[in-house]
Amino acid sequence: MTKINLFVCMGSACHQKGVYQLRLALEQLLADSGLEAQVELKGAFCLGPCLRAIVIKVNDQLILDVNPDNVAQKFTDEILPLLAEVSR
Ligand code: FES
Repeated sequence: MTKINLFVCMGSACHQKGVYQLRLALEQLLADSGLEAQVELKGAFCLGPCLRAIVIKVNDQLILDVNPDNVAQKFTDEILPLLAEVSR
């Protein structure tokens, strides 16, 4: 089965907002949801909307304004529905 790519922007604006902690939190959230085998977490170059850092991309959809504090909420509200859509 092909894995779904979840890109986390590693550009400088996103980096400054705490991408390192964000990746750790995302890894944990994926593991807690039993999705670590289906989703590949990848780093990306600047995804464009730096003012809305941190930016995540699933398929062609961008998820904006993610940070280590709101990542759990963003995961439930925006990331999980996109992953479900892509895996259909
Ligand atoms: S640095 Fe992340 S969108 Fe530009």
